[in-house]
Amino acid sequence: MGRISFKPGNMLYPLPAVLVTSRDASGRDHIFTVAWAGTVCTNPPMLSISVRPGRASYPAIRQTGEFVVNLTTKKMVGDVDYCGVRSGREHDKWTERGLEKMEASKVNCPALAASPVQIECKVREILELGSHHMFVADVVHVSVDEAYMDEKNRFHLEKADPIVYSHGTYFDLGKPLGTFGYSVRKKKRRS
Ligand SMILES: Cc1cc2nc3c(=O)[nH]c(=O)nc-3n(C[C@H](O)[C@H](O)[C@H](O)COP(=O)(O)O)c2cc1C
Repeated sequence: MGRISFKPGNMLYPLPAVLVTSRDASGRDHIFTVAWAGTVCTNPPMLSISVRPGRASYPAIRQTGEFVVNLTTKKMVGDVDYCGVRSGREHDKWTERGLEKMEASKVNCPALAASPVQIECKVREILELGSHHMFVADVVHVSVDEAYMDEKNRFHLEKADPIVYSHGTYFDLGKPLGTFGYSVRKKKRRS
């Protein structure tokens, strides 16, 4: 079988589909869906989100320099889609979807109570790349739902049923295939 060349485009999938929450200077709360999100540095902990300037959330994040990345789950998939196809300009997405807010700890933003992981961010740099502007941000606080902690105090995101987004479709994670380093790990001998 041969291979087919595609014109250069966004083919880096699957991706997380997260809900980004923010509060504008007038005190209005915003929420929208973002798939162009990524970890960019371990130490200091940093992530990026890329946002079209036309989004209602854009000026809020640009002016305040603060936002929260809320990870999403199977239960939340309807909210993920809705918040990605309706704008805060015409809709109160919080009320329409019955979304419960929490106050973030280190930034003046709402966070999404249903989210298993809330990542609070402060913008360090804005790269005006083209269609999207990339907010490169420091992670200043992380809060997780204690329901997903085990007795050894380890966090299990997989128990929250996280979702991914690939070529226009939302998927769940499916079965685990191996853990970090499993290919080189020595098998335990049976005595
Ligand atoms: C799955 C999905 C992923 C999206 N990813 C992004 C993204 O990474 N950046 C962006 O600017 N818009 C993205 N959008 C579109 C915005 O979420 C959408 O335009 C939303 O209505 C903006 O809301 P707002 O105007 O209230 O800020 C995405 C939409 C969906 C459904």
